[in-house]
Amino acid sequence: MIVAIDGPAASGKSTAAIGVAKALNITHIDTGAMYRAVTFGLIKNQINFKNVEAVEAYLNTLELKFSIKEKNTTLKLDNTDITEKIRSNKINKNVSEVSAIKIVREFMVKIQREMAKGTDCILEGRDIGTVVFPNADYKFFITANEKSRAERRLMDLVSVGDKKVSELDVVLDELRVRDYKDSMRDYSPLKKAEDALIIDTTHLTINKVVEKIVNIVNQKRTLV
Ligand code: DC
Repeated sequence: MIVAIDGPAASGKSTAAIGVAKALNITHIDTGAMYRAVTFGLIKNQINFKNVEAVEAYLNTLELKFSIKEKNTTLKLDNTDITEKIRSNKINKNVSEVSAIKIVREFMVKIQREMAKGTDCILEGRDIGTVVFPNADYKFFITANEKSRAERRLMDLVSVGDKKVSELDVVLDELRVRDYKDSMRDYSPLKKAEDALIIDTTHLTINKVVEKIVNIVNQKRTLV
């Protein structure tokens, strides 16, 4: 079974996907974290994003490992734990450019399909229902208004020490830029799959969002 969750930055899709994965006891794959990890690696190795050959050579050496310990997922790049590091503002600012590179997308989509092979899982990202798994069993498009998304992102950034609570306007601007880049890129832009169900999380608690998705999955599963 494949559950696809797409949506814009800070819409609450990660928290929802984690909750659904736990409730249904299925694997959670955060594809945004994978694009963040590549961005982190390219910056660390001082590789110019525009140098396609260098980017491709880097991808071929990439060692990315997700591991689940005590229900928390950690991400390791070349054996270093980068779970927290990929949430920094520097990565937020560069990840849209990296995730717009065709070769990066092809590489990631291949890995995502391999990871999901033969397992029940929930994948979250921007192109899961449209490109990675167009035949997913369930598709959701999670969204929220700009202000609440910016408030949520601000809290994340404050917690890693990258922003002050007074910087909501800056975060809102950065979020708009990222939404624009993610939606306007040439290769698999952020788009709702035609058959995806929209869930607006602006006025919903995370528990409600999880409950909604779990109920829909369980209802359909019972009918089949
Ligand atoms: O979900 P997130 O904010 O962690 O995603 C980080 C970036 O990765 C986002 O700006 C767009 C990109 N991304 C993508 O292009 N395709 C995906 N399936 C997931 C994320």
